[in-house]
Amino acid sequence: MQKYEEFISEILIPQERLQQRIKELGEEISRDFANESVLLICILRGGVMFLTDLMRQISIPTAIEFMAVSSYGVGRRSTSGDVRITLDLNTSIEDRNVILVEDIIDSGHTIHSVLEMLSVRRPKTLSICALLDKAERREVDVPVRYCGFTIPNKFVFGYGLDIDDYYRNLPFIGVVDLDKYQPEVKS
Ligand code: PRP
Repeated sequence: MQKYEEFISEILIPQERLQQRIKELGEEISRDFANESVLLICILRGGVMFLTDLMRQISIPTAIEFMAVSSYGVGRRSTSGDVRITLDLNTSIEDRNVILVEDIIDSGHTIHSVLEMLSVRRPKTLSICALLDKAERREVDVPVRYCGFTIPNKFVFGYGLDIDDYYRNLPFIGVVDLDKYQPEVKS
């Protein structure tokens, strides 16, 4: 894998800004559900960094669960709307305050489908918390109750978001210069 320093064009959101905003989101959630509890559902794999930082900033009783979906579509992070659960929850969400934790909303198809699939399980409340919102790419309307940052239509990576499966571990959000990025040839 190529070193990211060779293809990064800019740091879009540095670590400190991410953490500051995540603190604000955690405080907002704690206020909104004061005297109640929440169940955070992380949509794997991109949401994992965000989940672990966000949950540390929430002061009310908080449970976590994981869910994975696969989508069949063309192009990076663009889906056709055919979304299936590949890893389901281990718990009932009936009558619970559920918050879906996503790294990024792009076309909106993934989270829209997850919302539909979970709403029939009769949660008390069901909301979306997304770190990044590429609003201009939206193809289907979704109600994003908690949004970290609205970002331009650039290819971003780091902090949970991958480039060809790598670099989810970076503590900041960077932008890929596609002219400099050389994908590995897979045999
Ligand atoms: C990304 C992201 C969202 C989805 C957003 O997941 O985590 O789930 O794409 O795109 P959409 O709004 O156009 O549906 P991806 O399929 O890349 O999987 P990953 O989280 O495992 O990287």
